[in-house]
Amino acid sequence: MKILLIGSGGREHALAWALAQSKNCTALYCAPGNAGIEECADLVNISVEDIDSLVAFAREKSIDFVVVGPEGPLVVGLADALKGAGIPVFGPSKAAARLEGSKAFTKDLCKKYNIPTAAYGRFTDLAEAKSFIAELVRKKGIPVVIKADGLAAGKGVIIAQSEEEAIQAATDMLSGNAFGDAGAEIVVEEFLDGEELSYFALADGKTILPLTSAQDHKRAYDGDQGPNTGGMGAYSPAHMMTPALEEKIITRIIEPTIKGMIQEGAPFTGVLFAGLMVVAGEPYLIEYNVRFGDPECQPIMMRLQGDLLQILLAAAQGRLAEIKNDVSWSEKPALCVVMAAEGYPGPYKKSTPIRGVGRADQIGGVKVFHAGTAKGEDGTLLSTGGRVLGVTATGETVGEACRAAYRAVDLIDWPEGFCRRDIAWRALQGQEAAE
Ligand code: AMP
Ligand code: GLY
Repeated sequence: MKILLIGSGGREHALAWALAQSKNCTALYCAPGNAGIEECADLVNISVEDIDSLVAFAREKSIDFVVVGPEGPLVVGLADALKGAGIPVFGPSKAAARLEGSKAFTKDLCKKYNIPTAAYGRFTDLAEAKSFIAELVRKKGIPVVIKADGLAAGKGVIIAQSEEEAIQAATDMLSGNAFGDAGAEIVVEEFLDGEELSYFALADGKTILPLTSAQDHKRAYDGDQGPNTGGMGAYSPAHMMTPALEEKIITRIIEPTIKGMIQEGAPFTGVLFAGLMVVAGEPYLIEYNVRFGDPECQPIMMRLQGDLLQILLAAAQGRLAEIKNDVSWSEKPALCVVMAAEGYPGPYKKSTPIRGVGRADQIGGVKVFHAGTAKGEDGTLLSTGGRVLGVTATGETVGEACRAAYRAVDLIDWPEGFCRRDIAWRALQGQEAAE
């Protein structure tokens, strides 16, 4: 089969690495890809948002299957366009991608189908938003959470520590100053005080195939300090995951969502990534994403046992029930440390040289996934983005995976880069307590 993968991040390198191992993968293209993905795919210089060119390329090369990495092209209808051209695709339709593209849509779905989530209101009118904020503060206290409805590159959520800050955030969003059109509608919601967890399940429109869990680290610096980022590291499975919690997540959250989407006339095909808050052992939905997480995908792909191509194809073709028994997970946990450009998530330098990645890759159990990299004219590896590498390792325990990953990090010579040194600290604390 000839496969086209869409995207250019660490998630896509992990997907490319796993897809290339399939016995049925005869050719793998990636648009636009990065310097690491080049080891297993032919790079195609088309941007992820350029739907017409992507469809034209898939036709020209007689691509058999397209796998979409990021949410952006899904929310604007890439899967619909490919299907319209008769090309099978892994990823939801535009209508189903509203689960990520519109926070208000998802909150209404939760309400209608009784899916546990924070109490909320949705507003386009500032005066109404203000009185709801005042009421929420009176009933539940602070913080209060203000969210732009649409996609805002992970920045559209403000955890306001006072009523004034909440009103300011609502004002900025609704005036269009903060996030443009994405903030034309806002969601105001109750703050849930618990521990976050990422959970992944495949769906083929009707059947679900639960995958596994991970825990991300969203803040830029150690000790969960500093600004929010796309994720500075992740490990899988998450330390607090138990069969009982997984059962609750599947039956109370994932299943009603997939059934609800059928009822709404927008069946969901692809991977459903539930961002959850676990409060006193009970899971609440914070948000949905309609794609794999980045960096969660990197440790998850290292744990996957089974043929990723067959699994994603079965999801795209409505055959998940047939392959349920072909998916299993390594008992060994995996962990990914993100190396980012100094300054990220603020302004940072580009085109700085990175050395030693080959050495790091040779450590047992380690795989360095690239995110923002390109090759310079003389073959030197250069940084091209904020998040640049995902140094990923497996081990018998999270502690062992963690030590291997940081050993690899320490072999990478990149003065303009930084990483957190405490990925998986919650799991490691639990492990020490158990010993
Ligand atoms: P998002 O951009 O939707 O991933 O949200 C960013 C972060 O805001 C989440 O990862 C949570 O840490 C936090 N967050 C969002 N909604 C809530 C909520 N209702 N209660 C507590 N934290 C929240
Ligand atoms: N790591 C969080 C995300 O992919 O949205």
